[in-house]
Amino acid sequence: MRSLDDLLAEGVTGRRVLVRADLNVPLAKDRPGVITDDGRIRAVLPTLSALRDAGARLVVMSHLGRPKGTPDPTFSLAPVARRMTELGFPVTFAGDTVGEQASAAISALRDGGAALLENLRFNPGETSKDEAERTQFARALAGFGDAYVDDAFGAVHRKHASVYDVPKLLPHYAGLLVLREVEVLRRLTDNPDRPYAVVLGGAKVSDKLAVIETLLPTVDRLLIGGGMCFTFLAALGNPIGTSLFEAAMVDDCRRLLDQHGDRLVLPTDITALGPGGELMNPGAGGEVRQLGTRLAEGWTGVDIGPGTAADFGDRIAEARTVFWNGPMGVFEDPRFEAGTRAVAQAMVDADGFTVVGGGDSAAALAQFGLGDGVDHISTGGGASLELLEKGDLPGLAALRGEWKG
Ligand code: 3PG
Ligand code: MG
Repeated sequence: MRSLDDLLAEGVTGRRVLVRADLNVPLAKDRPGVITDDGRIRAVLPTLSALRDAGARLVVMSHLGRPKGTPDPTFSLAPVARRMTELGFPVTFAGDTVGEQASAAISALRDGGAALLENLRFNPGETSKDEAERTQFARALAGFGDAYVDDAFGAVHRKHASVYDVPKLLPHYAGLLVLREVEVLRRLTDNPDRPYAVVLGGAKVSDKLAVIETLLPTVDRLLIGGGMCFTFLAALGNPIGTSLFEAAMVDDCRRLLDQHGDRLVLPTDITALGPGGELMNPGAGGEVRQLGTRLAEGWTGVDIGPGTAADFGDRIAEARTVFWNGPMGVFEDPRFEAGTRAVAQAMVDADGFTVVGGGDSAAALAQFGLGDGVDHISTGGGASLELLEKGDLPGLAALRGEWKG
């Protein structure tokens, strides 16, 4: 895989370099265009700055959110362009993706200048399953560059035009963030220091089943919290009240427990919300109680309990390598943040090599003010999990020059 250093060694002065970044930052739900965490923008600046300082003409592209293949102002990258400028990386924002505004912005670029295209997903070709449609869009994008750099680690698991097809059309290079993320995650898949513990949370077993199947034979401990623990608890015969439950997953959970029960660690106590209570709304009433693993009717498990939090903390402390993805409970509600906070604190206090996989768990670390206490926070939630699961991803294969259609 050729890297940014190879491209810089070739020389980029006056060349147009098309950079795929993952600028898919979280936006405030109630305040349009307000970025709540600019970590993904800051994460790609080293690559962009290196190219700028070497005199490249930068054309930066990204998706934001999941618009449906047509322009949608809710998902405009304009606020991201403003934030890049505030962070010391001025960009000209093109109000479209492959239209006249983009062409004009790119023609006006000088050496060391940068343009940001509008959201790639405003065009149906970006995410299309039809290779011809993707290729058509990829050709338009490739026309904007003389070389292509992929630094969008968070999107390398997507077989999208800007990730998978553009590198077929231009000399292609991996950016610094992609290289670093892959190197860290390889430390987990290739002979990790043991004990190796993985902590998984999040709402649904169905989302994580494949990665659980792959990880179980290789980890020493797999700790399960979050909404998905209730389907496992139900598979063991526990009544789970009105907790999250995926009936279709019960057989899989039971099989995993039979095959790997010694490695799978489930909660032994639960923090639950009683009848009449509402999440995110303490004013609605409803009792909060610490329970065992048998929840009465009308009770909803919303966090791991204090005993489990302490046990998970001990297991994180004794591990030499830890990967954590997914909150232990609804940590945005202060009544149910304790389990996630305990895991976050244990990660920070651990002597072992600690990696947090993107998204909600990174947001939790930030909420607790622990953002710089772990060894690596991946910018890709889905991408990091899929890399652990599959060992390779479409965007990485493309950077090596390998395509399977
Ligand atoms: C992410 O947020 O995980 C990446 O930016 C990919 O976004 P997607 O899940 O909408 O493809
Ligand atoms: Mg540490």
